[in-house]
Amino acid sequence: MELQGKRVLITGASRGIGESLARAFAGAGARVALVARGGDSLQSLAAELGGTAYPADLADAAQVAGLIQRIEDDGGPIDVLINNAGIGSTSSFIDAPDDELRRVTELNYLTPVELCRQVIPGMLRRGGGHIVNMSSIAGIMALPGLATYSASKAALSHFTAGLRADVRGWPIGTTLVELGPIPTDLLAESDNYEPTAKSFKRVYRLGLTVDTPRERVARQVVKAVRKGRRHVRLPRRSIPLAMLVEAPRRGAELSLTGVPHQPRR
Ligand SMILES: NC(=O)c1ccc[n+]([C@@H]2O[C@H](COP(=O)([O-])OP(=O)(O)OC[C@H]3O[C@@H](n4cnc5c(N)ncnc54)[C@H](OP(=O)(O)O)[C@@H]3O)[C@@H](O)[C@H]2O)c1
Repeated sequence: MELQGKRVLITGASRGIGESLARAFAGAGARVALVARGGDSLQSLAAELGGTAYPADLADAAQVAGLIQRIEDDGGPIDVLINNAGIGSTSSFIDAPDDELRRVTELNYLTPVELCRQVIPGMLRRGGGHIVNMSSIAGIMALPGLATYSASKAALSHFTAGLRADVRGWPIGTTLVELGPIPTDLLAESDNYEPTAKSFKRVYRLGLTVDTPRERVARQVVKAVRKGRRHVRLPRRSIPLAMLVEAPRRGAELSLTGVPHQPRR
C-alpha cells in the first residue's frame, strides 16, 4: 500500500514501540491517529506529527465499543490499523493481582480483535485496508512469570493467522509482528520477578535472542505495510523458532487452496 496521505491508527502510541511507529508512519507521509490512555505525551506527539490524539483506556470494553466509528467520524476513514497497545504481566501466575488475568487478556487480545471486527467492514466498503497486530516471541516461548502475557500473545498470533484465512481473496492485508526483546518500559518490567529475569539472561547467553531498537521495528513495519508482507520477525535469529509454529498454519492454508471464499466487494 502506498502510504502517502493514508490514515493510520496506532494504539499504544504515547511511548515505546508505538511512539516509534507513529514517527515512522508520519515520516512515510501517512496521517496518524494515536490512541493511548492519554496524558500530555500523546497530545504533544500528535501535534508534532500533524496527527490526532484519541485518549482511551483500551482495557475498558465500554471505551472500545464504537471507537473506530468515533475516530472515523472525526478524521476520516482508517486505511491501516496497528494494534500495538499492550501490557506485560511478570509474576508467578498465582501471586498476580486479582484482576490481572482479565486486564492483560482484554488489552492484549480481546481489544485488538474487537478493533479488527470494527474496522474491516469499512475497509471492505472502500476497497482496501491493512491490519498489523503486534505480537511477541513470548507467544511461542513459554518462560516462567509470563504465563498470562505469553498466552495473550499466542492467542493474538493465532487469531491473526485465522484472520488471514478469513480475508483471503478480499482487499485486506494482514501483518503479524513477532518481536523478541525491544528496550522499552515493558521489557524493563521483566526484571521485577527473578525467575523471569534469570530466564531472559539465559536466553541472551545462549545467543537465542538480542535486543532490537524500537526504531528498527518501526521501519520494518512501515516496509511490511508498503509491500503487503504478512510477517515481521525481529531479531532475525528468531525466524526459525517462529517457523516451527507457522508451519502447521501454512500447511492448513496450502491444503485449503481451491476452497471457495465468500466474495466481498
Ligand atoms: N518491548 C518488548 O520487548 C516487546 C516484545 C514483544 C512484543 N512487544 C509488544 O509491543 C507492544 C508495545 O510494547 P512496548 O514495549 O512499546 O510497551 P510500552 O513501552 O510499555 O508502551 C505501551 C503503550 O501501550 C499503551 N497502553 C498501555 N495500557 C493501555 C491501555 N489500558 N489503554 C490504552 N493504551 C494503553 C501505553 O500508553 P499509556 O500508558 O499512556 O496508556 C503505551 O503507549 C505491546 O503489544 C507489546 O506486547 C513488546
